[in-house]
Formats: sequence, C-alpha cells, structure tokens
Amino acid sequence: MMKPRTPFVLWFTGLSGSGKSTLADKIAAYLSEKGFDFERLDGDTLRGVFPSTGFNRTERDEHIQRVGFMAGLLEKHGVIVLASFISPYRQARDFVRKRCRNFIEVYVKASLAACEARDVKGLYKKARAGQIREFTGIDDPYEEPNHPELVIDTDDESVEQSARRIIDAIQKFL
Ligand SMILES: Nc1ncnc2c1ncn2[C@@H]1O[C@H](COP(=O)(O)OP(=O)(O)O)[C@@H](O)[C@H]1O
Ligand SMILES: [Mg+2]
Repeated sequence: MMKPRTPFVLWFTGLSGSGKSTLADKIAAYLSEKGFDFERLDGDTLRGVFPSTGFNRTERDEHIQRVGFMAGLLEKHGVIVLASFISPYRQARDFVRKRCRNFIEVYVKASLAACEARDVKGLYKKARAGQIREFTGIDDPYEEPNHPELVIDTDDESVEQSARRIIDAIQKFL
C-alpha cells in the first residue's frame, strides 16, 4: 500500500442524503485503484460502533470529537482519511480541523428539498411524520461551513462530475 506524499483528512459534511457517503466511496475507489492506503470513516458505521451515541448537541459534539481524534491519529501515520459525517456544528468541525494537519473540509451542498426528494433511507419521511426527532434540517440545525476548502453542489451535478472535482483537488497531496 502506497503512502501519499502528504497525508490528509477529507471531511465530507452536509445534510442527510446530500451525497457524502456516495462521494467518499467514489474517492475510496479511486485511491484503491491507485494503490493508496486510506481509511473510510462513516457516520452510519461509527454510530454502530459507539451505539450509545445520541443526537442532541452534546452527544453529536462528543461523537465528532472521538472521530476527529481518530482521523488525526491515522493522518499522523500516513493514512489518508475519508470521513463522511453530517457533522452539523461548525465548532465540532473546527475542533477536528485543529487535530489534523491537512484538513480538507468538503461541503456537500444540496438543498433540503433535493435531499428530501431523494430520501435515500426513508428518514425524511419519518422525521416529517414525527417518528424521528432531532433530525438535521427538519427539527435540528445545520450550520454551513464558513470557509470550506471545497463546495460540491450535488443538486444539479452528477456523481461523476462531483467526484472528478474532488479528485482534482487532492492531486497535490498524492
Ligand atoms: N453529485 C452527486 N454527488 C453525490 N450523490 C449524488 C449526486 N447526485 C445525486 N446523488 C445521489 O444522492 C444520494 C446521496 O446519498 P448518500 O451518499 O447516502 O448521502 P449522505 O451520505 O450524505 O447521507 C445518492 O442516491 C446519490 O446517487
Ligand atoms: Mg451517508
């Protein structure tokens, strides 16, 4: 497995259904093909590993802090990190940024309407029906990044177009 010239943490943030996991997986496939050593950290997987993590602000912040700590350790040892988390709070994302050497914040930007129309996991329907509480974008906030390294608008762009833009942006680290 090849180490990159400069390890980095590619952090995908955005609403549920915006395209974080899809794009992180695309980049993972690209890096695999090139033979680079990377790790995928995804909200759904890690919530299974830390099953007691809830969705209030404190719990979300602690969750992102744990993940950010891990991301920083992996990066320190030369592993590229592809992290996909809603991570709705600016302060928590900035905490992760401070723990990493090369933090690339990718704002996966999609309108709530588009995410809700996709409703990949059927969660928006449940949130609208009141079956799920503290759902980002419905009854919980999402704080847009102020200075993301990349903004990927997935409302009108294809997965391939979006992935290509991210791949172009990481070339200087590989
Ligand atoms: N440009 C794009 N980038 C990423 N996903 C897109 C794009 N356009 C449409 N989609 C679709 O949006 C959905 C995003 O789902 P997912 O990646 O699971 O979201 P998230 O991980 O952010 O909750 C997928 O069905 C994907 O095919
Ligand atoms: Mg996801």
